Parts: sequence; C-alpha cells; structure tokens
Amino acid sequence: MKIIFATNNKNKVEEIKHLSHQKFQIFTLQEVGIDIDIPEPHDQLEANALEKAMTIFKMTNQACFSEDTGLEIEGLDGAPGVKSARYAGENCNPQANIDLVLSKMTGVENRTAQFRTVICLIWENQTYYFEGICKGQILSNMQGENGFGYDPIFVPDGASKSFANMTMEEKNTYSHRKKAV
Ligand code: IMP
Repeated sequence: MKIIFATNNKNKVEEIKHLSHQKFQIFTLQEVGIDIDIPEPHDQLEANALEKAMTIFKMTNQACFSEDTGLEIEGLDGAPGVKSARYAGENCNPQANIDLVLSKMTGVENRTAQFRTVICLIWENQTYYFEGICKGQILSNMQGENGFGYDPIFVPDGASKSFANMTMEEKNTYSHRKKAV
C-alpha cells in the first residue's frame, strides 16, 4: 500500500522509512513530484499536522500522513513546544534554536522535557491522529553529531547519552516518532 509522507524534512523521512512496516510503501513529497513548503500556522501540533496532511491529500487524493513535533521543556513552561522549529525566529537554524534553549535554561534546575510527535493520517477519507511521547532531560551543553534538531541536548529517560550520540536504531528504541508510527 502506498502512503505519501507530507514532509520535506529528510531526517524525518529517513527515520520513518526505517520503521515503517513492509506492508506500506512510503513516498516522500519529492518522490511524488511535489515541491511546496507547507506552512505550520497553528498553535497546536494536531492542527499543524492536519494542515500538512490535508494540503497534500487535496493535491493528490491519495492516502497520506504528516507529523508535527515539539520539544516541551517543563522549566520553560512547555516552550519551545509547537514553535520548536522557529524558536529563535523565522528561518533560523537548529544551532540558533539550541543556543536559545541553553541560554534560557541557565540557572533552571528542572531540566525535564519531552518530545511530542503528532501524526495525522488521512486514509480512505477518514482522519486519524497518533501521538508519541519521549520523556528525558535537557543537557547543559551539546553532545554528539548524529541526528538533527535538538538531538544534541536531549537525553531520553533510560539512556546515558544524547540522541545525537546514538545510531538511528538506538534513537528509534526511545523515540517519540517511533512511538507515534
Ligand atoms: P517540525 O515538526 O518539523 O515543526 O519540527 C519542530 C522542530 O523540532 C524542528 O526544529 C526540528 O528540528 C525539531 N525536531 C523534530 N523532531 C526532532 C527529533 O526527533 N529530534 C530533535 N529535534 C527534532
């Protein structure tokens, strides 16, 4: 069965293709010839995931899903949350986001955080939502080179190293995205 994954994020595609069941063949936007940047205008992960999936469903009329992920840090009242991609400003890079988190966490004792992924699937004209949560701690400096986004500053509960110090297989044993998939 063919499903389109409505994202342009190559890291997410790689992680999800690694996980997806053999019954499903996942196609990226690039693979189906769609070259658009889908906006994430809402203040809820669910609404952004729906917006992305619905945009692609309307264009293709094919089964598709999208996901939106946020890093929710307790000591920052849940920030950066739904704004994780542009925490340091529109079109900012991952390093700027990490730098901002680390500076806001200076002197903050509670470093508990979670990644939360919401997947929205449109399948035979029905809409389904799936959630995956990975709890952990925010480090005080960056560790590791693998992965993407906030991976260098996040250690999942039960692990002794950051996501960025893990192989993809290791990350997938803990990850929010894996649980949602
Ligand atoms: P979005 O879901 O593409 O909006 O991503 C939100 C932000 O969280 C972006 O800055 C991503 O780089 C980051 N992000 C999403 N998933 C992960 C992850 O698995 N690890 C680290 N950062 C992530």
